[in-house]
Amino acid sequence: MNGVAWLSARQEELPRGEAWLTAAEREVLARFRVPKRRADWLLGRWVAKRALVLSGVAVSEEDVAILASPSGAPEAFVLGHPAVAALSLTHSHGVAVAALGPAGTRIGVDLEAIEERAPGFLGDWFTPVEQAFVAAAKEGERAVAATLVWSAKECVMKALREGLRIPPKAVEVAPERGSADGQWRPFRARGPGREAWSGWWRAEGGFVLGLVASPAAGTPEPIG
Ligand SMILES: CC(C)(COP(=O)(O)OP(=O)(O)OC[C@H]1O[C@@H](n2cnc3c(N)ncnc32)[C@H](O)[C@@H]1OP(=O)(O)O)[C@@H](O)C(=O)NCCC(=O)NCCS
Repeated sequence: MNGVAWLSARQEELPRGEAWLTAAEREVLARFRVPKRRADWLLGRWVAKRALVLSGVAVSEEDVAILASPSGAPEAFVLGHPAVAALSLTHSHGVAVAALGPAGTRIGVDLEAIEERAPGFLGDWFTPVEQAFVAAAKEGERAVAATLVWSAKECVMKALREGLRIPPKAVEVAPERGSADGQWRPFRARGPGREAWSGWWRAEGGFVLGLVASPAAGTPEPIG
């Protein structure tokens, strides 16, 4: 693979039955008790497998296993061997997105429904610079601004394979401002330890999608 690429899928696209899951995945599925967790997990597996097939990394969905590493980060296997691609996954409100990059890339993707964030949320999780970025947004664009900051932070925390084990204020993001027009726009981030990151965000259809990769990549390409 060259560069980073992404694919989304909706709940309605999920195939019936479990024939497309590997035996190891069926064992994981059998342990879920909460229907929403089960549905999210299934849709994440499906979109990741489709992404790997459509981008030529695998021949069919049945050949692919998406299993969790001890940290929870997803790992893709094709016919039992590590896939020649880096993978990150996200799901929200019946939509899942898989992001792929060249093998060895640290990659993080995060889909968030656009919503206002309470002052307490911003105070607890956003740095003063990020709080100022949200406060300076035009009326009507504040929810997009707050959501994209959170999405960009989560992307970095996922690319580090730590998620919320990292205190959110340890990552500070500086995005290019924009509206919900579906355009990819860049963001920069720092941390933890002042490490520099470059990512992308876009807002459309009530969601913000963020994507970060290290080494930095060009604008994410759609898969399929
Ligand atoms: C990664 C994390 C921030 C995602 O939370 P979220 O925004 O609510 O959920 P999203 O749908 O965007 O992402 C979930 C996906 O992230 C991936 N993920 C989970 N842990 C991850 C990690 N440590 N690093 C990278 N990706 C991770 C998984 O693919 C997961 O989906 P799956 O379990 O169905 O495969 C959160 O799950 C987390 O912090 N996990 C690790 C620490 C943990 O388990 N803490 C307990 C709760 S604080």
